[in-house]
Amino acid sequence: MRIFVTGGAGYIGSVMTDVLVDRGHDVTVFDNLSRGHRDALNPRARFVEGDLVDTPHVFNTLKSNRIDAVIHMAGDALVGESMGNPARYYRNNLIAGVSLLEAMRDAGVTPIVFSSTCAVYGVPERTPLDEGMPTGPINPYGESKLAYERALEWFHRAHGLKVVALRYFNAAGAGARSGERHEPETHLIPIVLDVAAGTRPSVTIFGDDYPTRDGTCVRDYIHVLDLADAHLLALEFLRSRDPRMEIYNLGCGGDGYTIREVISCAEKVTGRPIATVTGPRRAGDPPVLVASSDKARRELGWTPTRARLDVIVESAWNWRSTR
Ligand SMILES: NC(=O)c1ccc[n+]([C@@H]2O[C@H](COP(=O)([O-])OP(=O)(O)OC[C@H]3O[C@@H](n4cnc5c(N)ncnc54)[C@H](O)[C@@H]3O)[C@@H](O)[C@H]2O)c1
Repeated sequence: MRIFVTGGAGYIGSVMTDVLVDRGHDVTVFDNLSRGHRDALNPRARFVEGDLVDTPHVFNTLKSNRIDAVIHMAGDALVGESMGNPARYYRNNLIAGVSLLEAMRDAGVTPIVFSSTCAVYGVPERTPLDEGMPTGPINPYGESKLAYERALEWFHRAHGLKVVALRYFNAAGAGARSGERHEPETHLIPIVLDVAAGTRPSVTIFGDDYPTRDGTCVRDYIHVLDLADAHLLALEFLRSRDPRMEIYNLGCGGDGYTIREVISCAEKVTGRPIATVTGPRRAGDPPVLVASSDKARRELGWTPTRARLDVIVESAWNWRSTR
């Protein structure tokens, strides 16, 4: 297929592009490099530098490359930043995203797989979280992603868009060529590995008095390559069906992992001690966020094969060590 990957210079987008190119797809990456990295671009994919808000530029790129399907990963994803600057999140995650949908509508491209997030749920009433649970974002990041899901629903109804929205839990780990690199980094595993590598003095644990097995928060981690597999299945799913819109949670489920379990796993994988500092709880941090991905398993046939935490951490450490 000829696939348009927005955000293909970013963490998940660059791994996704590598997987698509390896499978023989023709990939056009569209990225404004606001958060991405030029050296993360796959040399075998076409790169178009641009901002999604520029509808004619997106339209021309879709048309001239005869695009069959879109994987929409571009966006801003820093919860803390969104609290201080909601306009940026509405502009980039919603308005620029709608510009992409207008360009798709005009170019006659219908399938889209969208990178959504578990942040749309806010503080859940219970876990594991399934797609039927009420949404209730508690930050502008989650709000902007939920608003975009709703825009997708209306474009689906009005223009026959074929949509899969994937609500990722915590993406982690690395592919063969590309890995996690955010600035600033707010994700636990790269921060913990920075400490192991000696480029950061310690990792802060935000609260150790939660009602969990060791007092620290429980989270669900999903290997970025398992995430990429889910996108391939979602594309196949959309190709073979009439216009529809489906939402799937993507996580590894089970009991999840506490923050302390992640740190001790990283100590084992790296063979190095990891200094910690315990700080106060952060507002709006639910004690447990674990996905039920039963719907994705059932309907997409998705089975994560790299779900073990040590496999995820080891891939991130190996990639880090090659940089
Ligand atoms: N990393 C996670 O754990 C996680 C979890 C849930 C959801 N997500 C979602 O997955 C997607 C990818 O996340 P990531 O961690 O790879 O982020 P990232 O910041 O590494 O990549 C995002 C990319 O989008 C590009 N971009 C941003 N706005 C753009 C615009 N207007 N036009 C063109 N390009 C633009 C950036 O330059 C960057 O390359 C995001 O939409 C994010 O909300 C990520």
